Amino acid sequence: MCGIFGAISDNHNILPTLLNGLEQLEYRGYDSAGIAFISNGRTERIRAVGRVENLRNEASRYQGSIAIGHTRWATHGGVSVENAHPHQSHHLMIVHNGIIDAYEEHKKRLIQKGYAFESETDTEVLAHLLHEATLNNADLISAVKQVIATVTGNYALLVMDQNDPTSLIATAQGCPLILGLKDDTTFIASDIAAIIPETNRLIYLEQGDCVIMQAGNIAYFSNQAEQVLSPIAISEKIQISDLSIEKLDIGHYTHFMLKEIFEQPHVIEKTALKAITQQFDPELFGEKAVTLFPQVKHIQILACGTSYFAGMVAKYWIESIAKIPTHVEISSEYRYREVLIEDGTMIVTISQSGETLDTIEAKKHAEENGAFASLAICNVKESVLPRTSDCRLYTEAGIEVGVASTKAFTTQLTALFILANALAKSQGKMDETTLSKHLQMLRELPAMIAQSFNCQEIASQWGTLLLNAKSTLYLGRGIHFPIAAEGALKLKEISYIHAESYPAGELKHGPLALVDDQMPIIALLPHDDLFEKVRANLHEVLARKGKLFIITDSKVPLDDLKGAHIMHVPEVSCALSPILLTIPVQLIAYYAALVRGEDIDKPRNLAKSLTVE
Ligand code: M6R
Repeated sequence: MCGIFGAISDNHNILPTLLNGLEQLEYRGYDSAGIAFISNGRTERIRAVGRVENLRNEASRYQGSIAIGHTRWATHGGVSVENAHPHQSHHLMIVHNGIIDAYEEHKKRLIQKGYAFESETDTEVLAHLLHEATLNNADLISAVKQVIATVTGNYALLVMDQNDPTSLIATAQGCPLILGLKDDTTFIASDIAAIIPETNRLIYLEQGDCVIMQAGNIAYFSNQAEQVLSPIAISEKIQISDLSIEKLDIGHYTHFMLKEIFEQPHVIEKTALKAITQQFDPELFGEKAVTLFPQVKHIQILACGTSYFAGMVAKYWIESIAKIPTHVEISSEYRYREVLIEDGTMIVTISQSGETLDTIEAKKHAEENGAFASLAICNVKESVLPRTSDCRLYTEAGIEVGVASTKAFTTQLTALFILANALAKSQGKMDETTLSKHLQMLRELPAMIAQSFNCQEIASQWGTLLLNAKSTLYLGRGIHFPIAAEGALKLKEISYIHAESYPAGELKHGPLALVDDQMPIIALLPHDDLFEKVRANLHEVLARKGKLFIITDSKVPLDDLKGAHIMHVPEVSCALSPILLTIPVQLIAYYAALVRGEDIDKPRNLAKSLTVE
């Protein structure tokens, strides 16, 4: 959530680059945006509610070779120009992601000292704290170090000082910041997407690192160390990214969400590649996995949103394939309750971003209460969760721009299926035949997904049929219930149609009362052991005149379900059917939002990654 981008260059106008980079970050937060820069020796600030686009007109009147910018997702304080970043204290301008703990206390003290506040944000508190620290420090970097030693929280921070138009200062504590190095220009951003159009030479800041950025040059202080890193040490930190600008481009698609749905065969193949060649070797999860996996007696999965639904599917796989008892819990609930952790419990966190605060805190809570090992399934390389876990497997979804998760979800499922098999293998619970069968399923999966795109036309028709729906019900059973839940979440997120998910067998215990001739019900009816049970549940719906939409791979005629809309997907009767049945629910949500004219990639009130509670 929220995006930071800054750049300093040798005498050329950096403002157009800054605005373009900020637009790449908009998916992280898009309530408001702002930039500050030094032009003809004066600090200028432009802020607006809404999109980065709204800054362009005014910015085009200026030139500047040092600039900072921000896209905001409101946390402390509502959506207003006053609360938009950058925030100012005298000669300092700052942009900030994350949270400063107990900022009200600092604010009270600063007001008593005569500082005036124009916003409700914790960021403005940070700006004034920094200014206060400059009064008794010889230089800005010392002032920054003093402030970060006194405040707590998870944050990333970028500071510009009118008194020194040759430098920017950045520091990160628990929130991502990445430096981009180009001949005469130095960039910094909270997300690689802003930098890649300019350079692929990157340094990921680690917790507590501070950097003085100059045009084409940096002074790097590792974890608040007094000594600046040597050029050799800096060059060792540089990573060359293989991400290209083309991969960030929307191409011929109307929305990133649609592009990302269609990328799924490819990114799933990439995620599964090593697991197939290494035949579910535990080492896929890192060196430590080899000794830790055989000791795992219980698994506690922690995640939020879509990632939580991936965890619900994983429970079925881990319990049936590796025979390890598995619990799944929403991170924001788990972190605040007394937990009883059984001996030999490994924590598995699932997160696209790797920086979801609730999941980070839930993991810490589990560790404090006795979990013996941790493992992260994550898409963003080097983010907090994989960095702080004993074992990790990166999904290969690439940057996911659409706020509604699609390819991140199905690659998480792929990684979790690999995890179930690797655990089974390390504990000697899988015979050769099953191992070969599961490897074969993984090999075939990308092609099956590509085939399931055949449902696009019907999904688009169903999207139109949902145009005036006020509320919908998604049904599934067993391992497919989490996919129904994911379908309902997708529909809510981007079309704003209320959607609820229920295990089909639970209908009669309450939600059946909602069913009438206005209520669309989208049901997953795979040809598995529960087929007949679900079919019976769907009769209960039809008997109440519900508008039934059935997604099935069954070759069995469904003539008995008269009046129902039926979508046939390729036969998916294998352990990986939850992944295949995800495609239609993603497409239905997409087309429902499209026909309603909603802002599909940037749904209202949401942000891509949630680094606050
Ligand atoms: O980055 P994470 O996977 O930890 O994020 C968790 C949720 O915030 C995320 O899945 C959210 O529910 C998505 N917008 C769903 O599409």
